[in-house]
Amino acid sequence: MLTNDQLDKWDRESFFHPSTHLAQHARGESPTRIITGGNGVFIEDRDGNKLLDAFAGLYCVNVGYGRTEIAEAIAEQAKELAYYHAYVGHGTEASITLAHMVLERAPAHMSKVYFGLSGSDANETNVKLIWYYNNILGRPKKKKIISRWRGYHGSGLMTGSLTGLELFHKKFDLPLAQVIHTEAPYYFRRPKAEMSEAEFTAHCVAELEALIAREGADTIAAFIGEPVLGTGGIVPPPAGYWPAIQAVLDKHDILLVADEVVTGFGRLGTMFGSDHYGMKPDLITIAKGLTSAYAPLSGSIVGEKMWKVLEQGTDENGPIGHGWTYSAHPIGAAAGVANLRLIDKLGLVANAGSVGKYLNDAMRDAIGDHAHVGDVRGEGMLCAIEFVKDRNARTFFDPADKIGAKLAGAMVERGVIARAMPQGDILGFAPPLCLTEAEADQIVATTAEAVKSVLG
Ligand SMILES: Cc1ncc(COP(=O)(O)O)c(C=O)c1O
Repeated sequence: MLTNDQLDKWDRESFFHPSTHLAQHARGESPTRIITGGNGVFIEDRDGNKLLDAFAGLYCVNVGYGRTEIAEAIAEQAKELAYYHAYVGHGTEASITLAHMVLERAPAHMSKVYFGLSGSDANETNVKLIWYYNNILGRPKKKKIISRWRGYHGSGLMTGSLTGLELFHKKFDLPLAQVIHTEAPYYFRRPKAEMSEAEFTAHCVAELEALIAREGADTIAAFIGEPVLGTGGIVPPPAGYWPAIQAVLDKHDILLVADEVVTGFGRLGTMFGSDHYGMKPDLITIAKGLTSAYAPLSGSIVGEKMWKVLEQGTDENGPIGHGWTYSAHPIGAAAGVANLRLIDKLGLVANAGSVGKYLNDAMRDAIGDHAHVGDVRGEGMLCAIEFVKDRNARTFFDPADKIGAKLAGAMVERGVIARAMPQGDILGFAPPLCLTEAEADQIVATTAEAVKSVLG
């Protein structure tokens, strides 16, 4: 086995890490953490540290680490048939079974599943299908996509454009012209402190209506949103938000894409966030929780209304010109089948609801009154703490103080991984759905200690 020193050297010489300060890393100013194993909600690094992963990797290892059922399903599939493509009607038992299982769990009006590899490529697929749909319907001008500021939908050219975070646009010449952004449903950062939740929802709806009026409904194809804003700060919507947005979209014949890469398969305590909030999407994006990240796999679930038009399109134009070598890869599909069975067997959707509530309540009790805690919020097995300079005036720390990163660092030193969310001083928690109440207690106690050590 290679020594840590050797790996550390090769890492800095050879490895281009995503979402990393490249220069600092190459200079050795930030640590290389080499992860060697995992079991349940814990991971281990090469230095022998055992850490409670309260972010489930990148909110994806939903069933927890070390699940042999999934590892064995992957090994069996690799031995039997590691690969065959899915073009021109080919399939494998795993990919066909998984499509069936996904639809059994999805809202009733969903019709077919297209499989890709990542959340980003699934959203690229969605945009292509939306454009194709409007071309087939003879509406070539109806192409713009509305996304929200602070939404996260990936980091490709189109999906990086849909993402509403500055870091993903700056110096990349994004967003592309076909993407327009509207207000984030972020009650804590509402424009006027005295606004009620209902008034803030009405404000978001008015902003959307004004954007549609400015651009023209005949130029707008779709609206994309995560049921709960994720990377933008883990922000559940204000009361009544989704039904009110859905009504505007229906009125203007604008499709809805529910990006359920984080919320799909149980994280909110329901199988899908669309069920949770009464959304009626035309497309649902899935990834992370589909395989609990044991193998890369994503999907676009297509609703009946769009599916009929896609069929019409191929009758008129021939086979759909979309697909990747690895679409519906059998190893990913085998992981997905084993993962969804395990979620059912262990009752993880219900556990996410009950232990998630326990975690949120305990977090609020432990630090909700701290002078620098502005907001403790969450839904299901998602929780976030937003730190402020002054909680009454709702003023924020200077980003240069890096309070969020310091807090995440203080937590790792104490054995718990939380995520410093990229925009604001926000600590995010999205543990595996198998979290127990005792493990939730460990997260909360560690958070309280870390907050005390950094902010007093
Ligand atoms: C809601 C959402 N959509 C899309 C993506 C992109 O997925 P990927 O990183 O697999 O491309 C993410 C990733 O975090 C996400 O949270």
